Amino acid sequence: MSNLDNREKRMLSVLQGREEAWTLEEVLSACNWDDQAYVATAGHGLSNHGLVDIKETTTATLRHGSEGESAVANGLLEARLWNWIQTINEPSMAALSDAFSRSESGPGIGLLKGLGVSIEQGILIAADPEAVDAAIEERTAFIKSLEGSAEMVSHFSNRRGLIEEVLTTTRTWQVNKSGMAIATDDLTERQIVSEITPELLQSDEWKEMEFKPFDVTLEAAMPRSGRSHPMQALIERIRAIFLEMGFSEIADDYVQSAGWNMDALFIPQDHPAREMQDTFYLDDPTSIEVPDELTKQWKEIHETGGDTDSIGWGGKFDPEVSKKGLLRTHTTVNTIQYLKENPDKPCRVFTVDRVFRKESIDRTHLPEFHQIEGIIMEEGANLAMLVSTLKTFYAKMGYPEVRVRPAYFPYTEPSLEVEVKWRGKWLELGGAGIFRPEVTEPLGIKWPVCAWGMGLERLAMLVLGLDDIRQLYISDLAWLAEQPIL
Ligand code: PHE
Repeated sequence: MSNLDNREKRMLSVLQGREEAWTLEEVLSACNWDDQAYVATAGHGLSNHGLVDIKETTTATLRHGSEGESAVANGLLEARLWNWIQTINEPSMAALSDAFSRSESGPGIGLLKGLGVSIEQGILIAADPEAVDAAIEERTAFIKSLEGSAEMVSHFSNRRGLIEEVLTTTRTWQVNKSGMAIATDDLTERQIVSEITPELLQSDEWKEMEFKPFDVTLEAAMPRSGRSHPMQALIERIRAIFLEMGFSEIADDYVQSAGWNMDALFIPQDHPAREMQDTFYLDDPTSIEVPDELTKQWKEIHETGGDTDSIGWGGKFDPEVSKKGLLRTHTTVNTIQYLKENPDKPCRVFTVDRVFRKESIDRTHLPEFHQIEGIIMEEGANLAMLVSTLKTFYAKMGYPEVRVRPAYFPYTEPSLEVEVKWRGKWLELGGAGIFRPEVTEPLGIKWPVCAWGMGLERLAMLVLGLDDIRQLYISDLAWLAEQPIL
């Protein structure tokens, strides 16, 4: 019988030793076990296999209740009252209530009456004192030993707290015909393997082994295994959404020239964002080569508007400023360079990447963060297309309520601010707009370019329900382990 486990095998071979039933103690000692649960479980299994019959007998035994225990120590109430009556000359009701508490005298009188004591003109008198003695003696003997007539059991069962009934079930196990028919050979215990190792699988030994079955329905601890950081998982999800929407991904370095980061985007050279407090300028490289034809072009656009209809910013444009090395302050520096390389190919591209700004760190700001940037360049690209693209993106992220408001960026016209409704409030997540001619015409672009740049950490705060952005970067293992898998 290979479907018997080792304990069942051992118990069955013991039970086969005689036709009569076995008690728990007998099985325990014959099986050499010290755990009753083994007998119960194996016996149950054998009975399910139809090899063993179980007989259950339930017996009721008595034990003292709390009142019963005090009756054993101090005597039954009726016994104490009866003793008192016999030692007093004139056992009056008045004297009784002096000698006993009200909670005893009340029920006590009732008990005495039941034993044949009556009250005549306020005095307690027994017609047959010997009969009272005898009845009290019987009760006393019973309450001490808990043994006696059915009448006693029913009497004390009706009195509160004196005795309690405890039911105990005893079982016996008896091998039946089918159980006897199992051959001894089939009852040899086998080594049970609970862990499958590569060695075991490589050798042929596993063929001979018996494996411990697993109960896959049991509660189990969550294994702690490696997994993506929630930020990384979020980035993957954003990628998946843009790819699904037909966008291609681009990537570029974060060391850039001020020319590409700002001049190409028609950000005036005296714009406050260029100042040291916003931008990390680099010592190495302090300067990055930018082709002269580009700086010349930027100079024209900035000073006079060049060949575009714009009149530019006026003032003096300094080509040396364009060469300053910096850490990119936005990912728009990537999309603009992509357009420079591919001016006449309609495109939908995006990037999710790191940017740097001189921010002081607080609950919602970090000097190093990510933007979700993208552009659509094609014939007829327009504002409605831009807004619906962003709405689609946020809806796929789980934020169906999106609104846009007028905003200003030097490189877009019109410009928008994008807001998402979260827990009843509108939160600003980024900027967008259509690139100005000052940006696109010098690159030879013929079609409108919709562009946007959104904060990733802001979105992460919504998705993960954070009130402090720093939580994303402090590697708090306990917190990380709790994060849902996105
Ligand atoms: N670059 C802007 C920022 O850093 C966002 C933006 C991108 C706005 C593209 C308009 C167009 O916030």
